[in-house]
Amino acid sequence: MKNVLVTGGAGFIGSNFIHYLIQTEANVNIINLDALTYAGNLSNLSSVENHPRYRFVQGNICDADAMDNLLREHEIDTIVHFAAESHVDRSILGPRQFVETNVMGTFNMLEAARNYWLRDKSMPLEHVRFHHVSTDEVFGSLKAGEPAWTEETPYAPNSPYAASKAASDHLVRSYGHTYGLPYTITNCSNNYGPYQFPEKLIPVIILNAMEGKPLPVYGDGQQIRDWLHVQDHCEAIHLVLTKGKTGSTYNIGGVNQPANLTIVETICDILDEISDTTHKPHKNLIQFVTDRPGHDRRYDMDTHKIHAELGWQPRHTLTEGLLDTVKWYLDNLEWVNSIRKKQEYKGWLDTNYKAR
Ligand code: NAD
Ligand code: TYD
Repeated sequence: MKNVLVTGGAGFIGSNFIHYLIQTEANVNIINLDALTYAGNLSNLSSVENHPRYRFVQGNICDADAMDNLLREHEIDTIVHFAAESHVDRSILGPRQFVETNVMGTFNMLEAARNYWLRDKSMPLEHVRFHHVSTDEVFGSLKAGEPAWTEETPYAPNSPYAASKAASDHLVRSYGHTYGLPYTITNCSNNYGPYQFPEKLIPVIILNAMEGKPLPVYGDGQQIRDWLHVQDHCEAIHLVLTKGKTGSTYNIGGVNQPANLTIVETICDILDEISDTTHKPHKNLIQFVTDRPGHDRRYDMDTHKIHAELGWQPRHTLTEGLLDTVKWYLDNLEWVNSIRKKQEYKGWLDTNYKAR
């Protein structure tokens, strides 16, 4: 790993990954390619913006020529592909952008890699890697008592978001099988932690609770997710890049099974304990709202493979991780407010919540 292209590096997980890589790898150059959509935020990276091994390039993965040129210009040997439309609710209201970015954008990245690494034979294949970051949502939804998903579980995506990610995973696999592109894929569960865009469940609940606003819980709140601290996720991706077998996929999860309502109540308890708001007990703010159409009931990831092959397991328990995350949002209100004052953000809240 010498010249690493991180796509979507100004987003939540990508920016955490860039921080992690700068700290962990002393000799790696990092190119952050990001279109700066509503979810991209360069202030996530302000502490490294002048770092000699870091460079930001604004660009779109849907621009095939620009991606071709980018790989050549920076002699990229490793691609860590995060760039995507990532929010299920947005995919329900506007699926087209998800197909364009997640399917066509990934296709362009694969073509750029094939052109530069395979057609041009620019560097030995054992030195290159296309790493694709995917989701557990491609597996669909589990009924109570059904076993956790393994890397062998057939895909059964339910939302337009999950379907677009599944399609991109299949394309990556096909480039490995057909053209010999050295790739790895990770399917991870719901991430949480610093810099998560404040329209996802955990930041929405923290920020609304602090302001005494209703805490929107979809349906009965008994949907179950696995929650992965973003730093554990970054560590796992790094391990897969450095020690994972090419042509493999790995599940990554936090190994926990809380219902959404439990997450919301835990955040309320933490805020009751550590904040000085006048809205205690915060649980009184919980409001059950109309469910998400097609809402998946339960996710559960079997993470034995990455543990057995690479020795990875999550370092954060959910209790510690949630406490750290609540503290991070309380300490970073300037970051939060810079997003919340944008019209696009206010518009999204109206679109998603007013009709519920
Ligand atoms: P995010 O929405 O916070 O960030 C996405 C980033 O991609 C943004 O910076 C955005 O500007 C950029 N981007 C979007 N379209 C682009 C385009 N056409 N060209 C270039 N850049 C573009 O997403 P995230 O939560 O950081 O997720 C990163 C990846 O991890 C995604 O592929 C997502 O599917 C996957 N994932 C996320 C989670 C999660 O819980 N957040 C869970 C599983 C998998
Ligand atoms: P979210 O953070 O949107 O992530 P994703 O849809 O990618 O899993 O949602 C996590 C869970 O929380 C999901 O089951 C939907 C639920 N949810 C709510 O109950 N209320 C909310 O306001 C939001 C945003 C999500």
